[in-house]
Amino acid sequence: MTKTRILVFGRVGQVGWELRHKLACLGQVTAVDYPEIDFTRPDSIREAVRAAQPAVIVNAAAYTAVDKAETEPALAYAINAAAPGVLAEEARRLGSILVHYSTDYVFDGTKQGAYLETDSPNPLNVYGKTKLAGDEAIQSAGRNYLILRTSWVYGARGSNFLLTMLRLARERAELRIVDDQTGAPTSSECIAQATADLLAQLLAPQGGGLQGRSGIYNLTNAGETTWFGFAKAFLSKPPGAVGVIAPRLIPITTAEFHRPARRPANSCLSCRRVEETFGVQMPHWEDALSLVLETVTAGASAASGNA
Ligand SMILES: NC(=O)c1ccc[n+]([C@@H]2O[C@H](COP(=O)([O-])OP(=O)(O)OC[C@H]3O[C@@H](n4cnc5c(N)ncnc54)[C@H](OP(=O)(O)O)[C@@H]3O)[C@@H](O)[C@H]2O)c1
Repeated sequence: MTKTRILVFGRVGQVGWELRHKLACLGQVTAVDYPEIDFTRPDSIREAVRAAQPAVIVNAAAYTAVDKAETEPALAYAINAAAPGVLAEEARRLGSILVHYSTDYVFDGTKQGAYLETDSPNPLNVYGKTKLAGDEAIQSAGRNYLILRTSWVYGARGSNFLLTMLRLARERAELRIVDDQTGAPTSSECIAQATADLLAQLLAPQGGGLQGRSGIYNLTNAGETTWFGFAKAFLSKPPGAVGVIAPRLIPITTAEFHRPARRPANSCLSCRRVEETFGVQMPHWEDALSLVLETVTAGASAASGNA
């Protein structure tokens, strides 16, 4: 029997890396990344899709440097807005399913309570604007697509808040962390697992594909906290649990932490739609964190020759 062909963009990114592993049981996964595929060159995207002829395209590639995007808007637009539009056109031409990731940063964070997929976006920064433009490009060009909006992505590898804080905790006795932005830290592994669960349903013989279910779905770990609460959850563990002595943690306001890009105060996304439509339920962020910390600790032990 021919295996389902799945093409993943963003192979070495946080989510892309996990996808390679989680999607392997669903079909034949081809995973590509920059520089072999360059999202600023639409031809390279088209060539990759036409060569692979996939039934499913999963796009985890993106320009994710939120602060740097303020000074590189054209590059961020090319990667986050124009390229997803090209992917949507190619997916439509082939009749494939396109899975793409979006962000809480499409919202301005002024809502009381969690954002729904139907709430009006109003991004505060260039990154959010480019991601919103990408969502809109897919919505206008695509046919069978899932846009999964997630938040505060981290994992045991890549560039993220958890690994940055663990590094800083080894270097400093005191850490000042923003305590007035609220959201759900979401593990890259949970995002990839949920993506695999969604695709398993869609690809099942009686799954019915995406008919009537194309659209935007929020997908974050359950619960909410602040960046300070998130850091406290892994830095206040007993010394040695993650290889660091807990530094003194000081909560600060967004105004006290100057960054080039503005961030929303409220990043909470309601995941009821994905739960009701597909029965996919994401773990609580604290449970997901425990699993990621186990991987980080195991990696640190192996590196120091203890495992
Ligand atoms: N990170 C977050 O906190 C967050 C929050 C909400 C939503 N999201 C969304 O979730 C998705 C996955 O994010 P992530 O954190 O896994 O991203 P990531 O770790 O930054 O990975 C992004 C990937 O895109 C690739 N890429 C960058 N420029 C490219 C180009 N010109 N052509 C082709 N590929 C290029 C990167 O390759 P190089 O490593 O070689 O540059 C990398 O493999 C993205 O859509 C992101 O917008 C992320």
